[in-house]
Amino acid sequence: MKRNKINFLTVILALLLLLSGCINLEPEEEEGTTAPIDVSQIDKNSIGSYKTMQYTYLTDVDPATLTTGFDPTYLLLVNKQSELDVGYVPANLVTLTCATTRSMQLEARAAQALYAMMAEMNAAGIKDVMVTSAYRSYEYQQDLYDKYLTFERSGISEDASRVLGEEYIKANYLDKKIFKLSFEDALKVVQSYSALPGQSEHQTGLCLDFITSDMGGELTEAFENTQAFAWLAENAYKFGFILRYPKGMEGITGYTYEPWHYRFVGREAATDIHVGNMTLEQYLQLTAQ
Ligand code: DAL
Ligand code: ZN
Repeated sequence: MKRNKINFLTVILALLLLLSGCINLEPEEEEGTTAPIDVSQIDKNSIGSYKTMQYTYLTDVDPATLTTGFDPTYLLLVNKQSELDVGYVPANLVTLTCATTRSMQLEARAAQALYAMMAEMNAAGIKDVMVTSAYRSYEYQQDLYDKYLTFERSGISEDASRVLGEEYIKANYLDKKIFKLSFEDALKVVQSYSALPGQSEHQTGLCLDFITSDMGGELTEAFENTQAFAWLAENAYKFGFILRYPKGMEGITGYTYEPWHYRFVGREAATDIHVGNMTLEQYLQLTAQ
């Protein structure tokens, strides 16, 4: 009798919770599905620009190295909504033979295009540029992410002020004489500049980070003031590379501006993306229609 009474009360309680919205019987949104990317501001005429583009080079460039015929391998999208499995390793990884800060690997076609691009930069008089990161395994990205999280939890970085805001930092930390970020705040900061393992484009083996010798080993926005950056902004697309995380596009790419990070997509797509001034997400949305 007593147990019946408890069961009856449990049913009533569950009904009340349901009515008040505390219990949600709607299925969870499937992971990886998101609202379509906004492409309303993009000039759709930029799609197909590669067909009429006059490509000129200083060096002896073989276009076959740079064109991919829209091979989906090179249009692979990896971001916060579209992730790779822990075991994903790109086919055809090669060890880079160009200027790098340590031994590293890249997908073979992307590496060929990179060599052509670096030779052209050299011919244009830009000698101070090296690759500082290329293919990263899932495990490597995990270590990197953990390292950043430890760093952000150890104090209040410039990135923390940028992401959380000066006022928030003052009210929640400095005024309370707290000088280390909480775990939740540190996570927010790290996720603005570092991908979780599985969500890093570096796991595709199709992208790389450049650095110059005067940057003290640190990837910062200072790269924007280098000759290399100015050249890349004008010429990277000719070699099939795009600036993957442009300024002001954080809402679409999920990451803060990275002037140093370039992604190989093939010359056709890179040209259309460059001419249309868009992100890879927008390009894939536009061309999927
Ligand atoms: N910094 C980029 C977003 C990465 O971690 O892959
Ligand atoms: Zn990068």
